[in-house]
Amino acid sequence: MVRRMLIAGNWKMNGLKTALDEIDAMAAGAPAGPELLICPPATLITAASGRGIGIGGQDCHPDANGAHTGDLSAPMLADAGAEAVIIGHSERRADHGETDADVASKTLAVWEAGLVAIICVGETEAERDSGDALAVVARQIETSVPANATGDDTVIAYEPVWAIGTGRTPSIEDVAEIHDAIRAQLADRFDADGSDIRILYGGSMKPANAADLLAVENVDGGLIGGASLKAADFLAIAKAAAAA
Ligand code: PGA
Repeated sequence: MVRRMLIAGNWKMNGLKTALDEIDAMAAGAPAGPELLICPPATLITAASGRGIGIGGQDCHPDANGAHTGDLSAPMLADAGAEAVIIGHSERRADHGETDADVASKTLAVWEAGLVAIICVGETEAERDSGDALAVVARQIETSVPANATGDDTVIAYEPVWAIGTGRTPSIEDVAEIHDAIRAQLADRFDADGSDIRILYGGSMKPANAADLLAVENVDGGLIGGASLKAADFLAIAKAAAAA
């Protein structure tokens, strides 16, 4: 299977109904080639779906329903029009204490609902500085990604925590090293399916650096925060993916 580039936007806690205009502009300007996905706040999923680009959620509860005030389940996100769900973003891990085991059980819920899980991993700055980035990410992949993942139901997003929202990115060599290691680990664990799973880079991807990051061999797209809020920036990154 040839891996199709995926350019996914994570709007985090940003966006009112007025932001639907950006979704329409993204759909109107989408280049041929890459798959485009926006993960808006859950309040916008229903209105954002069916407008010409893929729509996803940013988190879900591991259960399908029950007494969990304020939470949303994967079947609810599917019902609202989501195709995918970001799981284990570092902000969820930091703000809500999510563990690798939580990420694995949420991923099973996402699969059960027929959605794609975008599983986030990535080292902190201290872990990078102490030379532990590869080991940390390997452990996160091992324990966050459940058995039997395939390219149809799973995407990995490598997001160094220190690069998120900071304007800093790892060197191209460091990105290549980690993505190659993730690819080898997935192929080792899931055989041919591991070669089909897309590995996104995330953390301060912008129009200015997207072409260089997306040219790296095992970078199959991007998970974009700040630069996904405006159609012009998001489409510039999508065009870099189309040309990669
Ligand atoms: P950023 O966020 O592009 O604003 O750095 C990326 C992310 O958190 O997914």
